[in-house]
Amino acid sequence: MKTVVTFGTYDLFHVGHLNILRRAKDLGDRLVVGVSSDELNFRKKQIRPTYPIDHRIAIVESIRFVDEVFVEEALELKRQYLLYHHADILVMGDDWEGRFDEFNDICKVVYLPRTIGISSTDVKVRIRTNDHRALAAVVA
Ligand code: CTP
Repeated sequence: MKTVVTFGTYDLFHVGHLNILRRAKDLGDRLVVGVSSDELNFRKKQIRPTYPIDHRIAIVESIRFVDEVFVEEALELKRQYLLYHHADILVMGDDWEGRFDEFNDICKVVYLPRTIGISSTDVKVRIRTNDHRALAAVVA
């Protein structure tokens, strides 16, 4: 049984989120997702997510590739989370390339390419600016 762990905010859930969760699950048997708390997100990005933690958790845990979800309360707890969930593989988007190599001593660290052309921030900007151009991002 190979356990894959990944982390993220997953605000305004979009196809880039879906793609990385599917590809993460493909690397193992069980996918565990740490969803950043509202407070952690505020500390990281100086902004609160549009959807609160209970909504984001409800959405992520309903994805069929996801086996378990927990709340990520602090970036400094990554090692504890990986040990607690018996991670064999840590998956991160390649926007984090190299930043989590310190965990190679307890699991394999894999950076997957991000889906081009979409992000929660882009979605917010498109809504704000009433931008109805077709999205380039595709379901992988
Ligand atoms: N992700 C991805 N492709 C995208 C957007 C996100 O693969 N186009 C991945 C990230 O690399 C991360 C996970 O999805 O592993 C959750 O990312 P998150 O930061 O919640 O989403 P973003 O859309 O990048 O949010 P923001 O615009 O607020 O940075």
